[in-house]
Amino acid sequence: MKIVSCSNDPGLGELIAKIMDVDLIKTSSRIFPDGELYVRVEGELNEEDVIVVQTTYPNQNESLMELYFTIDSLRSYKLRKLIAVVPYLAYMRQDKRFLIGEALSANIVISILNMLNIDYFITVDIHNDYCLNWFKCKVINIHAAPLLANYFKERVSKPIILSPDIGSLNRAMEAANSLKVDYDFLIKIRDRVTGGIQIRPKEIDISGRDVIIIDDIISTGGTIINAAAMLRKLGVNKLFVGCTHPLLVGNALEKILQAGVNEIVGSNSVRSSISKVQLQEEIVKSIMEII
Ligand code: R5P
Repeated sequence: MKIVSCSNDPGLGELIAKIMDVDLIKTSSRIFPDGELYVRVEGELNEEDVIVVQTTYPNQNESLMELYFTIDSLRSYKLRKLIAVVPYLAYMRQDKRFLIGEALSANIVISILNMLNIDYFITVDIHNDYCLNWFKCKVINIHAAPLLANYFKERVSKPIILSPDIGSLNRAMEAANSLKVDYDFLIKIRDRVTGGIQIRPKEIDISGRDVIIIDDIISTGGTIINAAAMLRKLGVNKLFVGCTHPLLVGNALEKILQAGVNEIVGSNSVRSSISKVQLQEEIVKSIMEII
């Protein structure tokens, strides 16, 4: 078995290779003078399983293109199984045509992967589980919520887990089950034209309790900042946030901390200053299930 690490791999390829005690190959990629991408994978690959590792933030478009080209370049070799490990798969939030005239971006990204005939796809907290049905290959969607909750285990008192919208309720439930505590969700309204969000007031008795918000993605931080404002009004004690994919656009982290969040943690599905929850062990478990 070999691990092939693409240029945006957040270090997971190396960690996986270390745990599995297998060789790591780095792709050589460069940009032609006109802006096109060139990818080559060189290595001794002979009738063995190959695991390609790439994430898709930052530089979603370039990262996806590199992933597609890397998978195709591996077709030069005779392989056994080809497994793609993409802990953060971009474009999954556009999983519907919310407004007339919009592209169904999530479906297009997955359809191209389907064209490449990979054997397995391993990801982490895909935005909407419904999109898993669009893959033609077998998919493993690792759930990071219990790991995120576990990070806060020793830091919280009388906690309740909240999801910032109904879409992440299952994640909150899994986090709550792992800590054996209560969970609930907030009501988020997103303006589909401006992208602005509003968290509606909700009756939850959190006075004097710690809250852990669990979400899949933090992009601008708008969701968490709105939720934090409402939870402060309701008398929350300490406020913690765990997110799987800490994209943290611009100064999102600073704004979140200024909004009164005591601590925020993310996973290493993408690189960030808060990517402290490690996914490699879970990814290796998934790989072991399929090889
Ligand atoms: C939305 O459905 C997601 O689960 C996240 O809540 C959202 O993407 C967060 O984005 P932002 O940080 O920009 O509010």
